Amino acid sequence: MAITYLDVTFAALGIYFLKRLLAPRQPAPFPPGPKGLPLVGNVADMPTVHEWKTFASWAEQYGDVIGVKILGQPLIILNTAEHAFAMLDKKSSIYSERPTLMMGTVLVGWEKTLAMTKYGDRFREIRKMLFGLMGTKSVVKKFEPLEELETHRFLRRVYENPDKLTTAIRQTAGAIILNISHGYEPKEKDDPIVGTVDLATEQFSESTQPGAFLVDVMPILRYVPAWFPGAGFQKKAALWRKTLLEMANIPHEIVKSKVASGTAIPSFTSTHLEKKDLSAQEEDNVKWAAASLYSGGADTAIYGFYLAMTLHPEVQKKAQAEIDSVIGNDRLPTYADRASLPYIEALLKEVFRWLPVAPLGLPHVAYEDDIYNGYYIPKGSLIIPNIWQMLHNPATYSSPLSFNPDRFLETDGHAPERDPRDFCFGFGRRVCPGLNLADASTWLSIASALAVFDITKAKDESGREIVPETEMLPGTISHPRPFKCNIKPRSAKAEELITSVDFVSA
Ligand code: HEM
Ligand SMILES: *[C@@H]1O[C@H](CO)[C@@H](O)[C@H](O)[C@H]1NC(C)=O
Repeated sequence: MAITYLDVTFAALGIYFLKRLLAPRQPAPFPPGPKGLPLVGNVADMPTVHEWKTFASWAEQYGDVIGVKILGQPLIILNTAEHAFAMLDKKSSIYSERPTLMMGTVLVGWEKTLAMTKYGDRFREIRKMLFGLMGTKSVVKKFEPLEELETHRFLRRVYENPDKLTTAIRQTAGAIILNISHGYEPKEKDDPIVGTVDLATEQFSESTQPGAFLVDVMPILRYVPAWFPGAGFQKKAALWRKTLLEMANIPHEIVKSKVASGTAIPSFTSTHLEKKDLSAQEEDNVKWAAASLYSGGADTAIYGFYLAMTLHPEVQKKAQAEIDSVIGNDRLPTYADRASLPYIEALLKEVFRWLPVAPLGLPHVAYEDDIYNGYYIPKGSLIIPNIWQMLHNPATYSSPLSFNPDRFLETDGHAPERDPRDFCFGFGRRVCPGLNLADASTWLSIASALAVFDITKAKDESGREIVPETEMLPGTISHPRPFKCNIKPRSAKAEELITSVDFVSA
C-alpha cells in the first residue's frame, strides 16, 4: 500500500495534537514573538538576510526577549546586552551549550572545533589550553614582535597589490595564527596550508547558514544515501569534511615529526607535544585546539576599517594628524605608542562597533529547562544574542548608524559611550578566547595603515567618485560587501618604510 502525502500530513497533525494534549503544563509562558502557524511555527517569519535588523524590529512589538519556534525548535532572541549578560553570563552553567547542526557540526564535523564543541570535559580542556596561550593581556604581549613583523608585511602586500586587500588581510591573519599554533611560516604565494584554512573557513560559514540545509530541520535525512536523488548535501558534506580534517591534520603531523626529530620551532602545538605521557585524547585535544585557533582567528574586522576610511575622509585625516604629531613620519607605530594615541583607540572601538564580524554572535543552547525573567526557556532552545542590535542600540550609542569615533572620547558634557568590546566578542563561558589577540592585532593594523596610507574613493571611467554601499554579506561570520577604494602611500618616506621588510622567500 502506498503512503500518500495526505496520510503523512494527517499522521503529523495527529502527532502534533497528541503531543499538545499530553504535554505537561508549561511552568511559565514562552517568551512573546510573532504568532506563527501550527506545526511549522515561525518558518515564514524568519528573515534570510540581515536577520539582526528584523529581530531588532520585532523588539518594538514583543520586547527584548523574543521567542519563536521553527518546526518545533525554540529560538530565543536577546536584543539587549543586559539580557545577554543576565542569561549567558550569570547563568552560564545552563547556557554554554552549542547547537547540533546536522549539516555543519555532525556531517561535516565542525563539532570537533572549540566553537562548535559540546559543553563538557573536552570543552573545558581546550578552553584551558587556549586561556594559557592567550587568555590575558599580559600573555599576549609575547606575540607583539610577531604581530609587528606580520603587520609590516601586510602593509607591503597591500602596497604591491592594493586591489587584493581581502587576500592580504586573510594571509596576514593566517601567518600570525600559524606561527602561534604550529610555528609554521606560510609561503608568500599559494601556501597550501593557508589555502586549506581559507577554504575550510568559507565552508564553515556555508554549512552552518541557518535554513540552508533541510537536514538541519529534518535530522532523519542524514541517513539518506549520497546517491539518492536530492541528497547532494551528502556529497557536499563528505567534501567539506575532507577539507576540515586536512586543516587539522596536516600542520599537526608536520609539527609532530619535527618534535620527534628535535627540530620543531617552539609553538602551541610543539610545547604540548613535548610533554611526557601525553595521552591520545590529550593529543587530539591539542590538535583541535590549534585548529580552532586558526579557523576562529582567520576572520577579522579589518576590511570594515578600510570601508570606514573610504567613506569618512575627515575621520581618517584626524587619525593621521594624531599619528603624525605623536610618532612623526620616520617610523611605523609600535605597541609602545598605543597609550599615547587616544583617537586611534576610539577609532578601533568604532570599527568593532560599526560592522560587527559576528552580528548574531554564535548561538548558545539551553542545557536544561530554565525560567528566565518570568519566561519558560525549554531545554534545547537556541539562544541568539543580537550583537548587531546591542552595538546599534540608540539608548547606548547616539546616532548608532554613523561612523563616529568621537563617541568614545570624553569631552565637556559628553561621557564616553560604552566599550563595544564588552559585547562584540560574545558572552559567558563561550566568550571569544582570542579577544586579546584580536584587539592587539586590529589596533596595530589600523595604526600602521593610517601612518603610511591614504585610503580614498575609487573613480569610475567618467572620473566620478564611487561611494561604496555599507552592506554586510550574509553568514554567521559577516564581512562588508566587496567594494573599490584607492590605497596609496602618503609620501616617498612612507613608501620607503613600507618596503623595508622582506617577505618569506618561496
Ligand atoms: C575581530 C575579531 C574577533 C571577533 C569580533 C570575535 C568574536 C567572537 C564571538 C562573538 C564568538 C562567540 C562567543 C559566544 O558564543 O558568545 C567567538 C568565539 C570564538 N572565537 Fe573569536 N572573535 C574574533 C577573533 C578571534 C581570534 C583572533 C581567535 C583566535 C585566535 C578567535 C577564536 C575564537 C574561538 C575558538 C571561539 C569559540 C569559543 C567557544 O565556543 O568556546 N576569535 N569569537
Ligand atoms: C614567528 O614569529 C617570530 C617573531 O616575529 C619570528 O622570529 C619567528 O621566526 C616566526 N616563526 C616562524 C616559524 O615563522
